[in-house]
Amino acid sequence: MNEVRKIRLGVNIDHAATMRQVRYKGYDRLRGEMVEPDPVALAVEAERAGADGITVHPREDARHIQRGDVLALRDAIQIPLNLEMACTENMLAFALEVNPTTVCLVPEKREEVTTEGGLDVASQVDLITGIVETLLKKGINTSLFIDPDSPQVEASRQTGATYIELHTGSFANAYYGPDGEAEAVRLEAATQLGQQMGLIVNMGHGINYTNIERVRIIPGIHEMNIGHSILSRALFSGIGEAVREMKSRMNKELPA
Ligand code: PXP
Repeated sequence: MNEVRKIRLGVNIDHAATMRQVRYKGYDRLRGEMVEPDPVALAVEAERAGADGITVHPREDARHIQRGDVLALRDAIQIPLNLEMACTENMLAFALEVNPTTVCLVPEKREEVTTEGGLDVASQVDLITGIVETLLKKGINTSLFIDPDSPQVEASRQTGATYIELHTGSFANAYYGPDGEAEAVRLEAATQLGQQMGLIVNMGHGINYTNIERVRIIPGIHEMNIGHSILSRALFSGIGEAVREMKSRMNKELPA
């Protein structure tokens, strides 16, 4: 029998908020009503179906998930809450108020719909170390969303962060072309380096029901954070089935 590894699944529910805000701009659930699609209700269903964590990414301009969503979510789920956020004072204050299980620091540009590149940790080690320390004092572990390159992995280690989340966007973009395998090997090398440095290695961005087949066999992945493909499939199958299907593909027996 081949080894069956268990990779944790973090479900990123931001895209549900993005869809809601298209129609209900400025809506905040603290007004009391519930409008579709409700990211908190989706998170609860995802938990029931076996999700190991829920990820949200409140933006500085609150254009997707709202402050009220995050506070409601914190009280509604039992599984870990991972708060993705930019390295700013405002967001740090919000994280300390929310008290999630983990914070994942990401770069942020106003124009982007979803996070595009990895965080440049190497050029801001002192700033990031300060944020990591402040969060840790409150018992919150930090993850750094980085491109799978050794200088970024090494710089992440210097900050004292517990986790890195390797950006799988380049892999996902290249998957159907000639460079897909090279990108997978790049992720493998960064995972191995991170582990050697004592970091816990997660992955995320652009992982879907097809490319999971290649990325899941990389040894040593702790968790994958997946949003778009799961929420897209949920339109057809419901969130529960979408979560169960991804978990089963992610953790099925490894090829001999
Ligand atoms: N991880 C991080 C840090 C992200 O910013 C995102 C969203 O862009 C994801 C994971 C999930 O990506 P996707 O929605 O493509 O699955």
